[in-house]
Amino acid sequence: MILLTGATGYIGSHTWLELLLAGYQVLGVDNFVNSSPKALTRLESLSGQKLEFIQGDVCDPAFLESVFQSHPIKGVVHFAALKAVGESSSNPLRYYENNLGGLITLLQIMRAHDCRNFVFSSSACVYGDPDESPVKEDAALRPENPYGQTKFMSEQILRDLEKSDPNWRVAYLRYFNPIGAHESGLIGEDPMGVPNNLSPLVARVASGRMEELKVYGNDWETPDGTGVRDYIHVVDLARGHVKAIDYLLSGKPSLTVNLGTGVGYSVMDVIRAYEEVIGRPIKYQVTARRPGDVALYYADPSLAEALLGWRAERSLKQMCADSWRWQSQNPMGYES
Ligand code: NAD
Ligand code: UD1
Repeated sequence: MILLTGATGYIGSHTWLELLLAGYQVLGVDNFVNSSPKALTRLESLSGQKLEFIQGDVCDPAFLESVFQSHPIKGVVHFAALKAVGESSSNPLRYYENNLGGLITLLQIMRAHDCRNFVFSSSACVYGDPDESPVKEDAALRPENPYGQTKFMSEQILRDLEKSDPNWRVAYLRYFNPIGAHESGLIGEDPMGVPNNLSPLVARVASGRMEELKVYGNDWETPDGTGVRDYIHVVDLARGHVKAIDYLLSGKPSLTVNLGTGVGYSVMDVIRAYEEVIGRPIKYQVTARRPGDVALYYADPSLAEALLGWRAERSLKQMCADSWRWQSQNPMGYES
């Protein structure tokens, strides 16, 4: 059985479905700090299966102990973390406590139960502003905010643990910019409060929930002057986790890989692709640059392909079409 922490969140819910489709038995846990229990009902109807889920906090050792005592967990995919970059700067202790405290507690309980297969949700933000793109896994690591630091420090903790006990098998998955939703429109990203990321904001403007998009600068050193990122469809990303679990459970050694498409798209490319999907213009206004932003980065995903036999398949247009289906079928997210 595979334990998913943060299972009802954006990437967790899509990964849960893909693991079930691949035949894995899955136990999900989440404390709903940034997700809705309604995702569970949607996942049940999508998978046609009764889900195994327990509500709880990964910072709570008694909770995790009871989970491991009552279930034969062979591997863990650890999504549970807080991820709002801005909030991590205004309240860093909350981020260090939750993201590092949760990780350490989980690893201690895993060790006590002799479970040492671990898939970790890392992020391209460990690279900060990379010297060059495509970014390879051996690029310098210099996170620029407390959230990014928690990912960098989590990687360090795991690497030290591996050194102390070679029985640990860890997949460090560095995600680029996940967007899109399951093609059914039943599960998707449901950010609490005002979103900060480009895709949910474009979706809100498209649906009329927001007046216009702010484009943060068109004077960057990029082909059209707007920021360039490696957007990856969340279902492709979810499938990367299935490959990582297959890989670890087959006894292969730890690995660190970028999960991205290898292609960079600008803010204007995203707006244009979305406009094509909805058949009308997206209202936007160019404003000043957002503090902390970088001009351009995209992944070199070739190591993931070589080691996991995985590569992202879905186009930017599909990402926007699936994002729109989710948004238009669920204008207020899971509360619709
Ligand atoms: P999300 O917020 O949708 O999902 C995280 C889930 O973890 C939420 O359901 C939340 O309720 C849960 N959670 C948080 N703290 C918890 C705790 N202490 N105990 C139990 N549950 C807890 O975020 P997501 O986009 O699905 O991200 C999943 C993981 O991937 C996170 O670790 C995130 O940092 C990482 N990541 C995300 C992105 C991205 O752009 N979405 C990029 C890189 C890395
Ligand atoms: C953000 C986080 C990063 C995290 C990543 C994926 C910041 C500073 N960085 O990165 O740590 O790993 O999300 O979750 O928050 N844009 C606009 N208008 C908007 C919103 C965004 O023009 O209203 C632009 C940005 O300037 C950027 C691009 O769109 O060029 C993508 O932005 P976003 O979706 O926030 O992702 P990142 O900046 O890559």
